[in-house]
Amino acid sequence: MQALIEQQEKESLAAISSASNDSVLREVRLLYLGKSGLISRMSEQMRAIAKEERPIVGKLLNHWRSSFTQVLEAKEKIFRDQADALLFESLDPTLPGTTRCQGSLHPLTLLIDRVVAIYRRLGFAMAEGPDIDSPWYCFDALNTPADHPARNEQDTFYLPDGRLLRTHTSTVQIRAMEQALPPLRIIVPGSAYRRDEVDATHLSQFTQMEVLCVGEGITLGDLKGTAEFFFRELLGVNTECRFRPHFFPFTEPSFEIDIRSSHLSKKWLELAGCGMVDPAVFEAVNQKRGDHAYDPEKISGFAFGFGLDRLVMMLTGIDDIRMLSENDLRFLKRFTGEY
Ligand code: DAH
Repeated sequence: MQALIEQQEKESLAAISSASNDSVLREVRLLYLGKSGLISRMSEQMRAIAKEERPIVGKLLNHWRSSFTQVLEAKEKIFRDQADALLFESLDPTLPGTTRCQGSLHPLTLLIDRVVAIYRRLGFAMAEGPDIDSPWYCFDALNTPADHPARNEQDTFYLPDGRLLRTHTSTVQIRAMEQALPPLRIIVPGSAYRRDEVDATHLSQFTQMEVLCVGEGITLGDLKGTAEFFFRELLGVNTECRFRPHFFPFTEPSFEIDIRSSHLSKKWLELAGCGMVDPAVFEAVNQKRGDHAYDPEKISGFAFGFGLDRLVMMLTGIDDIRMLSENDLRFLKRFTGEY
């Protein structure tokens, strides 16, 4: 047995040294070190030999295993080094590299992130809905009757199947209430679409942020406090908010929010629409849900919505809204961080 092991060891080392490439070497490794390789099989035979002989045979086997492994690994390294050398031979490190173009976030995305971060601190969660929606979510459920001008074909993009490109992100008010019980606090950044002539201040696709807070005992005070807190966080502590009575079908009472901030301009700027959720909206949600979870006698809420494109324009000093959608790298590269 001992002579056999010594003989086998010699043969195994010779097999390594005569292996001419990496794949032959891998076969040699398998032949000896694999699960049913020779070294393992010989180790198994230990049980069959006489007790006195076992320590000597064991030692020999260990010696074989370690010398084989050592020589094998040395040879493997040689092949690896050769392969590397071959690779480097064809590589000219003095050639200039290809510079990777480091992308940056779009100015609108930067603003959305800031707005979302502010509302998260107030406990609002982000919600979303489809850009293609039904007239029911976009209008009927939001108390906007069939003869309302917003529903006109001149104002809204309709698909041949009767669906439409949502004209505002208020659709997600309905979708969120349909899915979850009150209390609810959500913000919805997203695209909206209208048949506007594209010019320096209008795009047919624009970006809005909808805010909805619903629960027991939500008041107009909560709406004003939230809006003021938000605009001061976004535009600076000296920002003033003015609530001007207005009309929206889905809120009652409704207001427009004007902002005056030294950061932007000395003039009042009309920035958002808002109001207390109209009971008719809750009833539409209840009807769709098939329950009375949003009982207008018990539940109240505020909503507001504003366009982000104009805000980006004001914050960055862009005077043409089209710059936001043209993907001109010269323009986009100006915004590599916050503005
Ligand atoms: N959806 C309105 C628009 O696109 C904006 C708006 C006004 C949203 C009043 C609201 C709101 O949630 O309460 O013009």
